[in-house]
Amino acid sequence: MAKWLSRAPRLAAVGAYRWVDERLGLGEVLGYARQKSVPLHKHSYWYYWGGVSLFFFLVQGVSGVLLLVYYRPGAEAYNSVREITFDLDFGWLIRSTHSWSSNLMILSVFIHMFSVFFMKAYRKPREFGWWSGLALLGLTLFLGFSGYLLPMDDLAYFATKVGLEIPRKLPVIGPAVVDMLRGGAEVSEVTIQRFFALHVVVLPFFFIFILGFHLWLVQRHGNAVPPSEEAVPESERHSIPFFPNFFAKDLAMWLIALNVLAILAALFPWQLGPQADTLTPAPAGIHPEWYFMSQFEVLKLFGRWFPGAAGEILGILFFTVGGLLWALIPLYDKSSQRAMRARTTTWLGYIVLVGLIGLTILGYFDLD
Ligand code: HEM
Repeated sequence: MAKWLSRAPRLAAVGAYRWVDERLGLGEVLGYARQKSVPLHKHSYWYYWGGVSLFFFLVQGVSGVLLLVYYRPGAEAYNSVREITFDLDFGWLIRSTHSWSSNLMILSVFIHMFSVFFMKAYRKPREFGWWSGLALLGLTLFLGFSGYLLPMDDLAYFATKVGLEIPRKLPVIGPAVVDMLRGGAEVSEVTIQRFFALHVVVLPFFFIFILGFHLWLVQRHGNAVPPSEEAVPESERHSIPFFPNFFAKDLAMWLIALNVLAILAALFPWQLGPQADTLTPAPAGIHPEWYFMSQFEVLKLFGRWFPGAAGEILGILFFTVGGLLWALIPLYDKSSQRAMRARTTTWLGYIVLVGLIGLTILGYFDLD
């Protein structure tokens, strides 16, 4: 009797699986996941970062829906966030989780992009993986930016005001796009309403759609092996099935990510400053979030070197051309056979990485 009882949950689970499988064909889905294998080598660690980005995105979805239950956009925005933070049970924890996870997601997406870059995983046939990834990076940054204003405390208000100065300098379309986003000449309750719609409907819609395409491509092409492994004869290369072997490792990474997130969110609760007063001047040292700091600093430096409109235009040109070249890398560095191009892009990657980190740090030392 006791033995039967201990087997009962397993039998019930197998029975339930069969019942669903007969109707929906779960076996086919798992079979599809089993088709893919993941290369094993000394750089395999970098394959986790796309999955870690995905994990933080899922956390954003769940914690975001919980915040939606009490958040009220518009004139009541600040009061509703104050209620969530100070009055509701565990409201502070959900808000802290959402804010920390957004930063960790942006960090993981950057790590993922640079690991893909240095592994040369943008080469044929993975060009669309690179381009769809760049679209996801843009959407991730925009999600971070639009979410930052929603509490409407003084930091959110002034940082958004300053942040909008960056796209406003884009030639021709800049002022029109920023006025449309703001819903007027100043950041106001109308802006909150617009950012809210972008943050919870428009951006997630495009994100999920492009993410589906991105993941389908990974399933279709499998993971690329880095150039250092290309020299190893095929017969000596090792790999493991994605499902269940690599998937189990992915889950272990997710558990580590969850621990890091829980420690940060619980021990360093996300702060809420005083309500924004739109009539007071911006406090000293106001700056955008760390992920826009490098652009902010470039605009500042160009503004100093080339006073007047020339500095702004050159600063924006620098980023636009840089971003475009970054997107076109797969069309330039196509294979290891072209050693010169392969080496140039690797060096370019180091310069971009060090440049981004250096400008971000410099930005914090260079606050007015
Ligand atoms: C939220 C954003 C993103 C998510 C959730 C995501 C998710 C993933 C996942 C789960 C994988 C498979 C595992 C891996 O190789 O890491 C992957 C692979 C890939 N991702 Fe992303 N990704 C994102 C952004 C990006 C960005 C910004 C780029 C580059 C611009 C990019 C380019 C690629 C490429 C080329 C692959 C194939 C890698 C290979 O073959 O080894 N992804 N992504």
